[in-house]
Amino acid sequence: MPGHKGVGRLGIEQLDITEIKGADYLYDASGIIGQSEAQMTQLYSTAKTCFSAEGSSQCIKTMLGIIRLSTDKPTPTVLAPRNVHKAFIDACILLGFEIVWLYPDTPSPSICCCDITPEQIRTALENDNEIDCCYVTSPDYIGNIADIKTISEICSQAGVPLLVDNAHGAYLKFLDEDAHPITLGADMCCDSAHKTLPCVTGGALLHISKKAPEGFVEKAKTVMSMFGSTSPSYLILQSLDLCGDMISSGEFGKLLSQTVSRLDGCKQRLTSLGWKLCGSEKLKLSVRAADCGYDGNQLADILRSSGIEPEYSDSGYTVLMAGVGNTPQDFERLVGAFEKIPVRPPLERELLPLCKAGRAVSVRQAAFGRYKTVSVDSALGKVCALTVTACQPSVPVAVSGEVISEQIIKILKRYSIFEINVLY
Ligand SMILES: Cc1ncc(COP(=O)(O)O)c(C=O)c1O
Repeated sequence: MPGHKGVGRLGIEQLDITEIKGADYLYDASGIIGQSEAQMTQLYSTAKTCFSAEGSSQCIKTMLGIIRLSTDKPTPTVLAPRNVHKAFIDACILLGFEIVWLYPDTPSPSICCCDITPEQIRTALENDNEIDCCYVTSPDYIGNIADIKTISEICSQAGVPLLVDNAHGAYLKFLDEDAHPITLGADMCCDSAHKTLPCVTGGALLHISKKAPEGFVEKAKTVMSMFGSTSPSYLILQSLDLCGDMISSGEFGKLLSQTVSRLDGCKQRLTSLGWKLCGSEKLKLSVRAADCGYDGNQLADILRSSGIEPEYSDSGYTVLMAGVGNTPQDFERLVGAFEKIPVRPPLERELLPLCKAGRAVSVRQAAFGRYKTVSVDSALGKVCALTVTACQPSVPVAVSGEVISEQIIKILKRYSIFEINVLY
């Protein structure tokens, strides 16, 4: 193995090896993969950084698996703002977690955002001493960043580990001012290296902080292997290894700083043209399309016609992501494309924020229950069986076990989801 024997039409087959002698083994890494992980551990100043060839999705399940293994409770409880990625729900289903959701005090403009204050987290932890960990998604898909420092202090005082879905923020460590969740006090976090480092798709990092509770590091590989293939891609592992070298040499930091300042320049020019932007994330350009007179999906199509592929769009937003692979010409082209699009008066549109949903049964019970598929119009009052997410942003609109409300139906339709699986 592999069957291609190092030759093939893709052109990368020669690099695509498997666990041959000397190539090390990801889930018991003591050779070259171990050395490479040790380099990343040092670069992120963690107790342990593990490679994943299966994205942050695998790391998210691992983080919750570590919590599950660290408690005697058969159904531990996790506190989380509702704008989680689907992988979190899958982890809760598989590991039997109960979820206590947090919702923003003021309606969020999109299901991607959930503007929770640290005080809300403090109150939730004070009111419920069954909570075993707190889980926060930051940055979110629109580029908003949570106050991880304050949240981590609150979690530490409560003796509850803080887990961060930092899928969009692997680069935060290497900004002029280090803004990585581990630096700011998280116990564990996942980074999709493939989203913001020069890494191929699938490469991700699971970080365990030096301040994390005893035993987390030791459990990491065992749990990770439960959620991964026994044949992790060595192409992805090599890519992660080379990212480590590039960061180590200082080249990545230099390119990142150039990219951030070029994107800042773009943001200023777009703002002066009248475009309304949002989010504070340094590698995202998030346009409040509806406030500029466009459905976000329509604006995305206009940009596509200029050869620019947005990362994400919905009715309200068009989001672009820059990376160190972008050239100065790319940014010029971007501004040029926006210059040709007139900013118009805001669109009238109904905000469809994440809404509190009633819970009928646990996520696990609902996900494994007997279900039927119905049109969303006839789902009112029924119980969601399988969590429903739009392909992007993969933030659940209806979570397994929730009672389908009118608001959920409206959001499903806005994301062009017309059928849903409900419990019998
Ligand atoms: C917020 C968030 N978390 C987790 C993930 C999963 O990451 P990966 O694709 O690396 O598995 C994504 C993917 O888009 C994401 O946006």
